[in-house]
Amino acid sequence: MDLTGKIAIVTGAAKGIGREIAFLLAKHGADVTVADLDQEGADAVAEEIRSLGRRSRGVQVNVANRPEVTAMVRDTIEHFGDLDILVNNAGITRDAMLHKMTEEQFDEVIAVHMKGTFLCMQAAAIHMREKRKGKIVNISSIAGKVGNIGQVNYSGAKAGIVGMTKAAAKELAKYGVCVNAVQPGFIDTDMTRAVPEKVRQIKIAEIPMERIGVPLDIAKAVVFLSSDYSDYMTGTVLEVTGGRYM
Ligand code: NAI
Repeated sequence: MDLTGKIAIVTGAAKGIGREIAFLLAKHGADVTVADLDQEGADAVAEEIRSLGRRSRGVQVNVANRPEVTAMVRDTIEHFGDLDILVNNAGITRDAMLHKMTEEQFDEVIAVHMKGTFLCMQAAAIHMREKRKGKIVNISSIAGKVGNIGQVNYSGAKAGIVGMTKAAAKELAKYGVCVNAVQPGFIDTDMTRAVPEKVRQIKIAEIPMERIGVPLDIAKAVVFLSSDYSDYMTGTVLEVTGGRYM
């Protein structure tokens, strides 16, 4: 899969899955805007990508903030001349049981995942429609399919991302823009390291491949969906779970 000359934005790319996606896109030839709330982290990843010989910039963005998202897309096009690939990966959890979940916990998670994905897709699609090409990959979660205890907010948001992916895919197909989603299972990052060890071990024991996923497992699926190897795919959801929830 050759992404030479392609320009990508990856949100939430200062660490975890997003960081790995940004690297793997760059290793396949893409130039990458590393977008994150964490400017310092984004700058560090961009610097590492530049050492691979690719162009890369760290950009501070809150994906739930329209002016910041508009600036992120404008900045990318100004500096790199185009936008071919958008990966909506930024995410948070604010876990609580339903009877204890606050409105703030609910609203924050919906804002980052659903509004963030909406705003980024919208800003990128304006450009991609005109150019009649583009790949958008949204990071959902298997939680959006099966529901997780303590994650009514997160499971709802991740299911919502699937609906948004399909609606956008239908709208944009005739403009040559593909919109797909990836549903990771249980992946070893700071997000899942926050899960109590006992629960982590139970979750890992349920995985047929007998190991927790690593960010690279997800990055490989994203690179596939960003490349011309997936040109006849749109509106699909790829589950990357080590066989869990078949
Ligand atoms: P992480 O917590 O390691 O990294 C998330 C990144 O997103 C951080 O760099 C953070 O600063 C950034 N971020 C958070 N809110 C933001 C905002 N409003 N604007 C811009 N950046 C923001 O998380 P991880 O595990 O790498 O997750 C990445 C994505 O994968 C998330 O969407 C998550 O929901 C999803 N996912 C993760 C799974 C896992 O097992 N780790 C499983 C399924 C989905």
